[in-house]
Amino acid sequence: MDTRPIGVFDSGLGGLTAVRQLRRVLPGEDIIYFGDTGRVPYGSRGRQTILQYTRQDIRFLLSQNVKFLMAACGTVSSTYPTAEATRLPVPYTGVVGAAARKAAEATRNRRIGVIGTAATIRSGSYAALLRELVPDAVITARACPLFVPLVENGRVEPGDPITTPAIDLYLREVRDAGVDTLILGCTHYPLLKRMIGDYMGDDVTLIDPGKVTAIETAAALEDLKLTNGRSTGGTARYFVSDTPETFAELETLFLGEYAGGPVEQIAIENY
Ligand code: DGL
Repeated sequence: MDTRPIGVFDSGLGGLTAVRQLRRVLPGEDIIYFGDTGRVPYGSRGRQTILQYTRQDIRFLLSQNVKFLMAACGTVSSTYPTAEATRLPVPYTGVVGAAARKAAEATRNRRIGVIGTAATIRSGSYAALLRELVPDAVITARACPLFVPLVENGRVEPGDPITTPAIDLYLREVRDAGVDTLILGCTHYPLLKRMIGDYMGDDVTLIDPGKVTAIETAAALEDLKLTNGRSTGGTARYFVSDTPETFAELETLFLGEYAGGPVEQIAIENY
């Protein structure tokens, strides 16, 4: 039994989609979230910058005495080396593994689509794991760099005049490839699930990385005997590197019924 909080982080607010799922599956656990809102997006940056930011994010959460770390960011998960993660003082998970496993389980025709930030798609992280899990898989991967700013601006309602053509631009090739499973490989994208689902059609299974990682995290905490033993009353505290006002404006969109909880600004460059 361990009463310390779970640490979750993302380049911005997208990781809150994972927090929402974590709170659903682990309603008694306390969560500390860091969103690097002052430096978002990570996905258009180079590997060294993403690594430097990731290490600072992790140092901050470790300073908050967390018992488990979740990188609720496809970009960080695709960049941070496993060898480094295994040397951390607490267990760590990204979102790539759980999402790839779920996609491998869901596909029937072995045609799998992957969308993510430029850094995620460039890293080939999802594709490499999918090829191990489904050796004859046909993978269609596409970077969708405009999706993160569209989501952070709340442009997620079906019929949105800017997001609708962006979806057609990025997803036409993926749809034409006949995929039956699509990994939404960035934690911002579940907010576009309805629009993407309408575009891809009912026969395509959409994989939400935050959701499947939250489920695997609940199982991991149990296995590692790290749960706090409570089934209700979990709390969430939020830290951001830019003004908390932006967070307040968008938290309902990302957290839904779990919106609320204290938000504090920190100087992440000091970690
Ligand atoms: N939420 C991040 C991810 O899952 C994307 C945002 C960014 O580019 O920083 O990749």
